[in-house]
Amino acid sequence: DKADIDSGGAIPDFAALRARAAEEDRTTPEGYGRFVLGEGPEDADLMVVGEQPGDVEDREGRPFVGPAGQVFDRAAVAAGLDRREAYVTNAVKRFKFTLRGKRRIHQSPGAPEIEQARWWIAREVELVRPKLLLAMGGTAAETLTGTRAGILKRRGHVEETEYGLVFLTVHPSYILRLPDAELQREEEARYVADLAAAKEAL
Ligand code: URA
Repeated sequence: DKADIDSGGAIPDFAALRARAAEEDRTTPEGYGRFVLGEGPEDADLMVVGEQPGDVEDREGRPFVGPAGQVFDRAAVAAGLDRREAYVTNAVKRFKFTLRGKRRIHQSPGAPEIEQARWWIAREVELVRPKLLLAMGGTAAETLTGTRAGILKRRGHVEETEYGLVFLTVHPSYILRLPDAELQREEEARYVADLAAAKEAL
């Protein structure tokens, strides 16, 4: 019942969580993609949290496998972080989009999507019990710390939250959206430095 669900009491393990996710995935609301749960070792020390699946993630049913995922992968390697050792997920589990012709254009999740998705990230955190959560971008910061304000000043540091210790950094898409290659290189270097500091904080 709802009390069980809210407490997470009905979800003793990942098999149960995946079963619930499969149930969610049987219906897809209009304007949204399929349900994409996190992936990675269920006892990972590090949980990486992004915003929501993108177009590629939606088609593959896996987090961070599109362009932003490639930036993350490259930065993780440069920072000495092994992605395969992290549990990688998103604050919001469905791609939100508007159609422009046949193209699906990314829409940022709003407060309703973020609040609805909170149950899922809370269950993932409960089951994995990571030592550190890496919040990438505003949506993950808002979900895990309660606010996205001032993220560029808060990046590179650990904050204590009800979910545990949260290390803040920017979203890899932020780097991809920068207008020139030089800026992108600089910001990618800062992102790598954040990931290396997160590794140190583990
Ligand atoms: N951006 C995200 O925040 N998450 C993904 O999985 C892909 C792109």
